[in-house]
Amino acid sequence: PRPLVIAPSILASDFSKLGEEVRAVDAGGADWIHLDVMDGHFVPNISYGPDVIKALRPHTKKIFDAHLMITPCDPYLEAFAKAGCDHITVHAEAGPHLHRSLQAIRALGKKAGVSLNPSTPLNVLDYVLDLVDLVLIMSVNPGFGGQAFIPSAIGKVQDLRAMIAGRPIDIEVDGGVGPNVAGPLAAAGVNAFVAGSSVFKGGTTESYRSNIAAIRNA
Ligand code: DX5
Ligand code: ZN
Repeated sequence: PRPLVIAPSILASDFSKLGEEVRAVDAGGADWIHLDVMDGHFVPNISYGPDVIKALRPHTKKIFDAHLMITPCDPYLEAFAKAGCDHITVHAEAGPHLHRSLQAIRALGKKAGVSLNPSTPLNVLDYVLDLVDLVLIMSVNPGFGGQAFIPSAIGKVQDLRAMIAGRPIDIEVDGGVGPNVAGPLAAAGVNAFVAGSSVFKGGTTESYRSNIAAIRNA
């Protein structure tokens, strides 16, 4: 089994003090920092891009887990790599050349991830699994934090776990994740838990620490 990790999404943090927020979740026990990049085109919201990520890089040594909700993505992969992202995850739905995108991420020396929207079947992974380090199962429709968890993600994770058959691939889930769904998700095969609003509620390092611990203990 892959190591269990908690990846707070800074989309739910206070954007007026992003560096401080990253240091606070680092101190509170975050394993990875989840970075949601939105373009107002692939998803109906706009967040931040590589320059903001680059500015955050000196604030922590934790893994930068970038989730690109942008199309096209290929022209920007190098910028995200240079900004300090360790994982670069692209959406299977974001373009016709998923295989090429994954090859490009690996060629940049980064871990390559594929994210699937709630309605996207697992079979889009059939011929790319050897290029994948991480699969991100969306448990909300991407674009916004604070949405309700979609329960069909649990069965999808179970099917994905069978499909990856022991390969060294992280199974990550994103959207509506908190202590109430972390247990069933872990049992289904998730090892990496993205959480935005459930981590950042409270607004202090101490609350982040207890919120992260609550997910980990679930
Ligand atoms: C949604 C993003 C998520 C989001 C999660 O498009 O990919 O990472 O920030 O936020 P919560 O945990 O609040 O659902
Ligand atoms: Zn995300």
